[in-house]
Amino acid sequence: MDRSALRKEYQQPAPNILADVCEKAATMTDVIDLSIGDPDLSTPAAITRAAFEKVAAGDSHYTSALGKPELRQAIADLFTSRYQRPTTSDEVMVTVGAEHALFLVLQAIVNPGEEVIVLEPSFSPYVNQVKLAGGVPVEVATAAEHGFALDLAAIKAAITPKTKALVINSPNNPTGNALTAAEAAALGQLAIEHDFLILSDEIYADYLNPGVAFASPVTTAPEHTIIVNGFSKTFAMTGWRIGYIVGPDWAIEAAAAVNDSVTFSAPTPSQDAALYALAHYEETSAPVVNEFKERLTYLNQALAEVDWLKLTPAMGSIYLFPDIRPTGLDSLTFADELLKKAGILVVPGVAFGQPGEGFIRIAATQKLAVLKEAVARLKQLTWN
Ligand SMILES: Cc1ncc(COP(=O)(O)O)c(C=O)c1O
Repeated sequence: MDRSALRKEYQQPAPNILADVCEKAATMTDVIDLSIGDPDLSTPAAITRAAFEKVAAGDSHYTSALGKPELRQAIADLFTSRYQRPTTSDEVMVTVGAEHALFLVLQAIVNPGEEVIVLEPSFSPYVNQVKLAGGVPVEVATAAEHGFALDLAAIKAAITPKTKALVINSPNNPTGNALTAAEAAALGQLAIEHDFLILSDEIYADYLNPGVAFASPVTTAPEHTIIVNGFSKTFAMTGWRIGYIVGPDWAIEAAAAVNDSVTFSAPTPSQDAALYALAHYEETSAPVVNEFKERLTYLNQALAEVDWLKLTPAMGSIYLFPDIRPTGLDSLTFADELLKKAGILVVPGVAFGQPGEGFIRIAATQKLAVLKEAVARLKQLTWN
């Protein structure tokens, strides 16, 4: 047997831009890695301790397929207060991270051939997840000239009778843009008018720069919005693999039915950790979230002083997405050159879809002192 035994799309190894850049970086010393979106901070110790204590006391079994009832209730309570909209635990399912949450939702809603609009540049798995669900991804660009803000006209133009859903991520990876209340409301209104679902990935909801308020289309279109979120970013818990879906109860039931044949339930220790994190939200999230706000604020200001790039300041998330077109290089060549010339590892914008070409993603996942060193190196570079 050989690769020809695989499903057609896996017979050729898929190009993996990020893996290629990282492989190169691994052969070098003195590299500043600003590529991966994994917070460098460890999970707050109190969360880890609480989970381990529960497991040591015997909490090591499957939970209900939808998640522990008390965790579902805690998530419902969080949503009731965050969105000022009563949310019940029937509208919540605990998953193995936000990415798994979106996978389950797409599997549950997409009929073969139905279209799902994905706004690009976007978190790379979205397009593939739509395909895995048998759907057709319809990629709609957000415009660089407008700071990658929501382009309602472009979305309207992409809607067809086959449009089933639209995936949106705000605050956004990779662009750092965030929906305003007016944009979120307009998008919600559009979903109601054309009867499609909004799949709202809100994993960076806590990562908003000072003066930027969180907005979600669910406020306008609760029957048309399914939210995915998780604990990876807010509580630096990427490795625990724990997240959730909040949406209408019929969507939750169907997602659980899909997951019955995938992972059944989310890891019990991670659910214990999540419960503790929610019960101590402020004290456990603040050290993580504030550290990133400080870094993003610094980079917004410091990168604006680098004369060969153009920066639209990030409104939130943990990323910046500067325009490197003034260098005359495409994003892959630029990332390669940046690694060679300055020992800085970033992700070429094209990894997030064609509309990301001409940009690079910088993840603020290093301490402030390291970011300062990176900026000093950037300022010394010339590109002719
Ligand atoms: C936009 C976005 N959604 C989802 C995820 C994955 O979240 P989780 O770790 O909860 O699966 C990431 C991780 O980088 C992300 O950037």
